[in-house]
Amino acid sequence: MKKERIILTGDRPTGKLHIGHYVGSLRRRVELQNSGAYDKVFIFEADAQALTDNIDNPEKVRQNVIEVALDYLAVGLDPAKSTIFIQSQIPELCELSFYFMDLVSVSRLQRNPTVKSEIQMRNFETSIPVGFFTYPISQAADITAFKATTVPAGEDQEPMIEQAREIVRRFNYIYGETLVEPEILLPDNAACLRLPGTDGKAKMSKSLGNCIYLSDSADEVAKKVKGMYTDPTHIKVSDPGKLEGNCVFIYLDAFCRPAHFERYWPEYANLDELKAHYTRGGLGDVKVKKFLTAIMQEELEPIRLRRKEYEKDIPAVYEMLRKGSEAAREVAAKTMDEVRKAMKINYFDDISLINEQAQRFAAECER
Ligand code: TRP
Repeated sequence: MKKERIILTGDRPTGKLHIGHYVGSLRRRVELQNSGAYDKVFIFEADAQALTDNIDNPEKVRQNVIEVALDYLAVGLDPAKSTIFIQSQIPELCELSFYFMDLVSVSRLQRNPTVKSEIQMRNFETSIPVGFFTYPISQAADITAFKATTVPAGEDQEPMIEQAREIVRRFNYIYGETLVEPEILLPDNAACLRLPGTDGKAKMSKSLGNCIYLSDSADEVAKKVKGMYTDPTHIKVSDPGKLEGNCVFIYLDAFCRPAHFERYWPEYANLDELKAHYTRGGLGDVKVKKFLTAIMQEELEPIRLRRKEYEKDIPAVYEMLRKGSEAAREVAAKTMDEVRKAMKINYFDDISLINEQAQRFAAECER
């Protein structure tokens, strides 16, 4: 049988999704979903993982589960093509994590660079919740329970996938070929690796207030682009402008295509010409921002409209999540059956075990 190609990826529902998520992963996910190159696509909300560092704020996670589901549907993830589900609704993932814990050492977890930096970020140094510390193990369960071959994710997830691969190798070596080693699928374009916040800070983050959300209105988007960080030394229009660290140009790299020039700014043939003029001097920020606004509205408008449609029938969105979770659970349960068998903890579904034991004791009686 040909090996199936299976995609799995997800997000922690700790906030509405923004255009950083869109450029860095969502847009690609929809392409992969529609490409026909994959046998199955699983997209999930890692709410249990979100709780590992929000344990005192369950309401935040609860509220954002529906927001993220709406964002998924709005960008074009399609429940007819992708199984969209909620992590906590698949208890098999906990079960698998529990056995994986025996295959990973504490020191190996401590060396995971993403966990290391996240612990620092959250000031957890002295009291790291065990659940947070071990989330790479639970993430390995998320991936392997669905026998995912391909995990589209950002560079920051590389150590997680590596850890999952190690667990799979160890499991298969000890218990026999059962699980599938996943591969990470990184964003295919440097501009997509990470979109900075509108203030030029490295990362979009809710707490910094520098995000453009997929659910923002057209006015909000226009306002945010207007206030965007550019080149602080580019004061007069005639001044030469810098591109490095200039949000407007970084966003253009992520969103702009030659067709956009034809439509909105035919004076230039492409982005390189525009950049050259800006660097030379004689091109003001306001004009470039207007262009960026037009492009972003074109990309975001259909998403916004689709979101509005889904917002009109929230019970249907929950129903979609429930159905997706049910379907996902069936798949995970099947993998768990195989795992239990491989680990020799399938006492009751193995009639030969019972017969063998009966014979062993019968033979002992006769002696
Ligand atoms: N850690 C991922 C994030 O913060 C979310 C996640 C959980 C995930 N389990 C996963 C991503 C499995 C890919 C595969 O975005």
